[in-house]
Amino acid sequence: MGAEALLEQIADVGRDRVRGGYSRHVFDGAERELREWFAEQARARGLDVEVDRNANIWAWWGDPGPDAVVTGSHLDSVPGGGAFDGPLGVVSALSAVDALRAGGFAPRRPLALVVFAEEEGGRFGVPCLGSKLLTGAISPDRARALRDPAGVTFGEAMGADAEHVGRDDAALQRIGRFVELHVEQGRGLVDLERPVGVASSILAHGRWRFRFRGRGDHAGSTLLADRSDPMLPASRTVVAARKEAAAVAGARATVGRIAANPGGTNVIPSTVDMWLDARTPEAAGTRGLVAELSALAARFAADEGCRVEVTEESFGAEVGFRPELRDELSGLLSGAPALASGAGHDAGVLAAEVPTGMLFVRNPTGVSHAPEEHAEPDDCEAGVAALAQVLEAWAG
Ligand code: GLV
Ligand code: MN
Ligand code: MN
Repeated sequence: MGAEALLEQIADVGRDRVRGGYSRHVFDGAERELREWFAEQARARGLDVEVDRNANIWAWWGDPGPDAVVTGSHLDSVPGGGAFDGPLGVVSALSAVDALRAGGFAPRRPLALVVFAEEEGGRFGVPCLGSKLLTGAISPDRARALRDPAGVTFGEAMGADAEHVGRDDAALQRIGRFVELHVEQGRGLVDLERPVGVASSILAHGRWRFRFRGRGDHAGSTLLADRSDPMLPASRTVVAARKEAAAVAGARATVGRIAANPGGTNVIPSTVDMWLDARTPEAAGTRGLVAELSALAARFAADEGCRVEVTEESFGAEVGFRPELRDELSGLLSGAPALASGAGHDAGVLAAEVPTGMLFVRNPTGVSHAPEEHAEPDDCEAGVAALAQVLEAWAG
């Protein structure tokens, strides 16, 4: 079955009627429905489905590992996200299996599809949580204690199985090579007039919570001079983030989430939480940018009689995908161009453990993490064909 037809099957799952697009967060109703849908699709293809200790789903063509060729992506989304970021890699994996079967292919190495849990960190705040747990890049205790905005911990949401999360050597040892197909999150392939590309690198990126503390009070009766309003240093920090990032080559800084507590129009907030997403080409640059912004935030807070605490919620150093594997993929795919990724991926986490590559599919809007994210049906099919070609070369 084609990738488009598979995407169509899940087109109504997790639509966000308020924000637009999709909101599919780990262990919520929509994400559980998608997990079940994937398992059914895999079983319908005769694949053996299992869920690992870290809530990642595996579907095996042949006996599990060792030296397996693995492909997959994620099914969760950001709040109000697009239809392709994550699901395109999953449906392309299923579709590639169909294409290989139709061509009479019989893998000589085990082949597996994988769906990683909580890639976006849309519910518990840490991106690539499933792959980070699998590889031990986050500790089980820290993961279990992560809280969603309603105060539910990851451990509570996962239930009794949360006792077993953590680095899974047995699961890792089965992976010989991993390839993730993903919609491009930019216009590189549009500019190059190519439907498919390969990944070269991922920016060093992380998330930081800035908690500004002031004094809650009345919006009408409190004179301006008498206020300690944490919204002021928070908003100055938002503006500074853009300005400071603009001074660092290749940097991005974003404040996409802010929460005033208690959150009343006629109430001076007592605290304001704002989350910074910062990325630069190298870990030191990203940390330097955040240190600079933290110092500025402290100064802005002091100016208003407030305080600020900065907490690192996640961090991942830059990833350089192995050049020989990148070139091999490019060679297999008629010289598919190499593209740097501004976005993080489970493939970036896996790359520290196993030979890993990525394929990108052209996105005519260049937009991602928003409903306008798109890939044309012909390009989706070109992606499936490319993925099938890679799986055939690696597992044949
Ligand atoms: C994941 O898509 C990220 O880079 O935020
Ligand atoms: Mn994403
Ligand atoms: Mn993604």
